[in-house]
Amino acid sequence: MNKRKVLITGADGQLGRAVRERFADDELICTDVGDINITILHRVQEFVQKYEPDAIINCAAYNDVDGAELKKELAYAVNCIGPRNLAMAANSVKAKLVHISTDYVFDGKRPITDIYEENDDKNPQSVYGCTKYNGENEIKRYITTYYIFRTAWLFGDGNNFVRKIMELGKKQDEVKVVYDQYGSPTYANDLADIIYQALEKKIPMGTYHATNLGFTNWYDFTKEIFKQAGIQCRVIPVTSEELPRAAARPKNSMLAKGKILGEDIEIASWEDALARYLEKEKNKI
Ligand SMILES: NC(=O)c1ccc[n+]([C@@H]2O[C@H](COP(=O)([O-])OP(=O)(O)OC[C@H]3O[C@@H](n4cnc5c(N)ncnc54)[C@H](O)[C@@H]3O)[C@@H](O)[C@H]2O)c1
Repeated sequence: MNKRKVLITGADGQLGRAVRERFADDELICTDVGDINITILHRVQEFVQKYEPDAIINCAAYNDVDGAELKKELAYAVNCIGPRNLAMAANSVKAKLVHISTDYVFDGKRPITDIYEENDDKNPQSVYGCTKYNGENEIKRYITTYYIFRTAWLFGDGNNFVRKIMELGKKQDEVKVVYDQYGSPTYANDLADIIYQALEKKIPMGTYHATNLGFTNWYDFTKEIFKQAGIQCRVIPVTSEELPRAAARPKNSMLAKGKILGEDIEIASWEDALARYLEKEKNKI
């Protein structure tokens, strides 16, 4: 296999670590904010001109959904200006750009019998969602050789719901979890593998929904986590209104995967992904 030269930004994050692992046989240039702050155009250009990668995988993001409501400028810089800078730089060396977006670009107001296709109307309801949606648009303005993978409910080697709820489940007799928000939990390693398959198979450039298969809600997800991890803790179902957050959460985050599956990309179910995650992380959690 010919080694690709791959520049990873945000390489120390949850997805960044998984991408490093999946692309280990390629020539990797791993960077995080200390090496390339993606919000600073000349830093991005310097690195990209120096290494001339075949592909840039942008795993960097401002991901604190509630924090973004207050830190609007920072969220905008990282989630919108950053991707724009990367798109301009990637285009200048004819590199492919892989970028990650989110279910939060939709308003999530559809009935849960209805799932979101890639081209459905966007209507983000939070600052985070707006910045990610603007980031997608900036990429489309500055480069044609891009993949945008919209993912959701990500868990991997980092701070995530699975770790947090397991910590609570081990300490408490019961936890309250919302049952009225639906989506697809996604293992960072599986998303890294989707990215890998897309580049290997050279699927058509564009935007794809990329999560593990199957849908659930946070309450049932928690019950499955506790079941698989053998944690004895009662799970109390509550509504979103009973557990208010600073930023609005979409109730329907269900992303249709027909487009990516139509390109022969293999994706596991979220339950299978969770089992592999728990096995891999069993000494850490
Ligand atoms: N975590 C989720 O549940 C979730 C859901 C949907 C979509 N996503 C998207 O998936 C992608 C990966 O998310 P994650 O959970 O791995 O994120 P993460 O927060 O674990 O990692 C983000 C990384 O970006 C780096 N970073 C922050 N600002 C930077 C800057 N200015 N320049 C360079 N690096 C910077 C951080 O240091 C960190 O290492 C993001 O695009 C995110 O928006 C995540």
